[in-house]
Amino acid sequence: MTLSKELLENTIKPHGGELVNRQVEGTRKEQLISEAQTFPSLTLNPWSLSDLELIAIGGFSPLTGFMGEDDYTNVVENLHLSNGLVWSIPITLPVTEAQADTFEIGQQIALYGEDNHLYGVLTLEEKYTYDKANEAQKVYGTTEVEHPGVQKVFEKGNVYLAGPIELVDRPKHDEFVDFHLDPSETRQLFADLGWKTVVGFQTRNPVHRAHEYIQKAALESVDGLLLNPLVGETKSDDIPADVRMESYQVILKHYYPEERNRLVIYPAAMRYAGPREAILHATVRKNYGCTHFIVGRDHAGVGDYYGTYDAQELIAQYEDELGIQIFKFEHAFYCTKCDNMATAKTCPHDQSYHVHLSGTKVREKLRNGEQLPKEFSRPEVADVLIKGLQETKA
Ligand code: ADX
Repeated sequence: MTLSKELLENTIKPHGGELVNRQVEGTRKEQLISEAQTFPSLTLNPWSLSDLELIAIGGFSPLTGFMGEDDYTNVVENLHLSNGLVWSIPITLPVTEAQADTFEIGQQIALYGEDNHLYGVLTLEEKYTYDKANEAQKVYGTTEVEHPGVQKVFEKGNVYLAGPIELVDRPKHDEFVDFHLDPSETRQLFADLGWKTVVGFQTRNPVHRAHEYIQKAALESVDGLLLNPLVGETKSDDIPADVRMESYQVILKHYYPEERNRLVIYPAAMRYAGPREAILHATVRKNYGCTHFIVGRDHAGVGDYYGTYDAQELIAQYEDELGIQIFKFEHAFYCTKCDNMATAKTCPHDQSYHVHLSGTKVREKLRNGEQLPKEFSRPEVADVLIKGLQETKA
C-alpha cells in the first residue's frame, strides 16, 4: 500500500527505520506458488506460523526472516541484534536434526501450515544448534520446565533454520477479520484519525477494571488507545481469544469514547517471558505506529517467576534505545474506602479495603457461571465471559 503524506510526516519511525513488508503479490506470488511444488517442504506449528506472519507484515521490523546465529547469540546474550539495535527475544525456526539434514544451504523451503496451506518460502542461509538451557535461563530467567515458555524451549527441535522469508498468503484469522490490520494499516488508521500520539496496550486477558484504569490514565495524555490483544497461542488455561475478543468489543462499546480507541489483534504467540517479552511487546507496538506503550504489574508474567516490577525495571534500561515511551503503572486495584480505582501511589488505606482476585479464582468463578464483583469487572464483560466459557465447556 502507498502511505499518505500525513502518515509519513507524523508518525513514529518503525524499529530500524523501515517497515518491513515480505508479503508477495501478483506475478511473484504466482511464481512462488508454482515453484514451491518442487521445493522441499516444512510444516510450521501455529507458533512458527505466527512468527512468519509477524516478520512478513512488519510487526517484527527490522527482521526480514528467521534469525541467524549471530543475531540469535547477540539477542540471547546482550539483548541486541548484531547490527546494534535493541531486541529482546530470539525469533527462530526450530526443526529436528532429522528434518534439518534434509535441507541444504541455499535451498528454498516451502512453508506450510498445519492446514496444508502454503503460507511462505524460506531461503535457507544457515542451520545451527543452540544451547537450550542457556536460552531458557537468559530469555526466561529460569530453566524450570514448569514455566510454559521454558517448556516450549525444551520441547522444540535442536536445530534452528535461518534466512529471509517471503509470505505467499497471510493467515486469515477469519473470526477476527474486522480487527485484522497490519502495521502499515494501523499507521494509516492513526493518521486518518488524526492521532499523533497513541498508546498501545498488550493483553492476553479480558479487560478488567485495573486494565481499564491504567488505559484511561494513559489516555488522559495521548490521542488514542490501540487495544492490541494477543490472539496467537496461549497456555490452555488462559481465556480463549474468541471469547476475549467479544468481551473487548463490549467494554469498548459501553465504557470508552468511540473516537479515541481502536481494537486490533496482535497475532503472536505468548512467550510468558516477563521482562524480555515486555521489550518485544513494546518494539512490535512501535512498529504498529504506537508512540507509547503500557507496562503495568508483572507484564507477560506467569506464576511467581518474575517480580512485580521486573519488566518495568528492564524496559527502563532500554527505553531510550527503543524510542517508544513507556507508561509504567503500579499495581492497580479497587479500594472500597476510596470508592475508586487506585494504586499505592494514590490510596492511603490498608489492603483489607482493596478488592483482589487471582486469575485462577476469576476463571473458576466464570466457569461456574458466577458473576464477578463489579469492583473487579464490568458486569457486561463478565456476562460475555460466563457465556463464552460455558459454551467452550459444552
Ligand atoms: S500480559 O500480556 O501482560 O500477560 P495481562 O492481561 O496480564 O497481559 O496484562 C496486560 C497489561 O496490564 C500488562 O502491562 C500488565 O502489566 C498490566 N496489568 C495487569 N493487571 C494489572 C494491575 N492490577 N495493575 C496494574 N497493571 C496491571
